Amino acid sequence: MRRKIVAGNWKMNGSKDLAQTLVSDVRSQAASLDNGVEVVIIPPAIYVPDVVASAGDVLSVGVQNVAQWASGAYTGEISADMALDQGCQYALVGHSERRQLFAETDAAVAEKVGRILASGLQAMVCVGETLEEREAGKAETVVAAQVKAGLATVASEQWQRVVVAYEPVWAIGTGKTATAQDAQAMHASIRQVLSEMGAPANEISLLYGGSVKADNAAALFAEPDIDGGLIGGASLKAEDFVSICRSVP
Ligand code: G3P
Repeated sequence: MRRKIVAGNWKMNGSKDLAQTLVSDVRSQAASLDNGVEVVIIPPAIYVPDVVASAGDVLSVGVQNVAQWASGAYTGEISADMALDQGCQYALVGHSERRQLFAETDAAVAEKVGRILASGLQAMVCVGETLEEREAGKAETVVAAQVKAGLATVASEQWQRVVVAYEPVWAIGTGKTATAQDAQAMHASIRQVLSEMGAPANEISLLYGGSVKADNAAALFAEPDIDGGLIGGASLKAEDFVSICRSVP
């Protein structure tokens, strides 16, 4: 049985106050969810201690990025071990904003996945095509290449700590969502790629991200290969985020 997960990626938004009030609010509402969904909060790293304190044992916590190195002279970076040390369970890696704005390559994603899994954290690995790639009919090829490259070094016993998030770049923060059918088709394709890589594909949770809102989440989450969502904007309001968490069947 695959885990159902809804994660809120705050990106570079929020405050100490939000880390306390919103997370406490989400925690109290999430405690009564009866659909077995795991709820994850992924704030800016500096607020991780505040979020961990408010999350209790109801919510999981993640960081949005880690360094590809273990430790040392890398000013401004934080390591996977540090995220674990501060109480995180997850680290996001390969988000399209990091690929596009910070030149994060597939090779760097693979290095980071290695660090994340070696630390004991779970890796939430983002993949997704641009609009040009989709229009050129290359979406599945591009995403398959990202999956293969980013997860190339995962050892057989580590797959249970890997989650893949499919986020079509054109759907992020745009209000445009992939149709449930298109998202399902890509998730099925990702699962096939994972299977070809020798991973226990049917046990790996695949999340959809890209303008998921309270009013479109249920249709997406009803698809057989969509195991939850990675939520941006709508994770910054407790009511919207909890409503999305409730949409998991
Ligand atoms: O990682 C979540 C994300 O990129 C989606 O953002 O605002 O479109 O839900 P948003």
